[in-house]
Amino acid sequence: MERTFLMVKPDGVQRGLIGEIVGRFERKGLQLVASKLMQISRETAELHYAEHHGKPFYERLITFITSGPVFAMVWQGDNVIALTRALIGKTDALEALPGTIRSDYAIHTNFNLIHGSDSAANAEREIGIFFESDQIITYEHTIQRWI
Ligand code: PPS
Repeated sequence: MERTFLMVKPDGVQRGLIGEIVGRFERKGLQLVASKLMQISRETAELHYAEHHGKPFYERLITFITSGPVFAMVWQGDNVIALTRALIGKTDALEALPGTIRSDYAIHTNFNLIHGSDSAANAEREIGIFFESDQIITYEHTIQRWI
């Protein structure tokens, strides 16, 4: 089954939106298999956002993501990468479809609440940055029988 890396960013943590965001993925029928509240170092942020190095927003992004705790997670389910990206919505809140997390709760691109892996390769890479393999829990998820 597919896995993805999701992370509530410092704005989402500070605004008390962890529960709301996690609840959306739970109600969709996806399975949470790892999570932790953590403060990211600059080194970890640079590793995570390596592909954006040199872009105009890079420095702002690194400063933002290290500015306070984040809630890092691994989710599992069929098509979990595409599904979570759809539930999150486009990077720019102005372009995000109504009903998506970013449309419902974000205003600016630089405070857009949540990160989600955009490909299987990036999901694997990002999960490896934030979690040890023994921190990812395998357990029966009875809801999977019904969705
Ligand atoms: S790109 O260039 O198309 O790959 O960029 P994109 O995928 O839209 O965004 C990559 C990550 O950078 C964040 N981002 C920004 N942060 C601050 N300011 C600006 N202007 C900005 N533009 C993009 C964006 O939220 C992405 O981070 P994650 O954590 O993946 O959401």
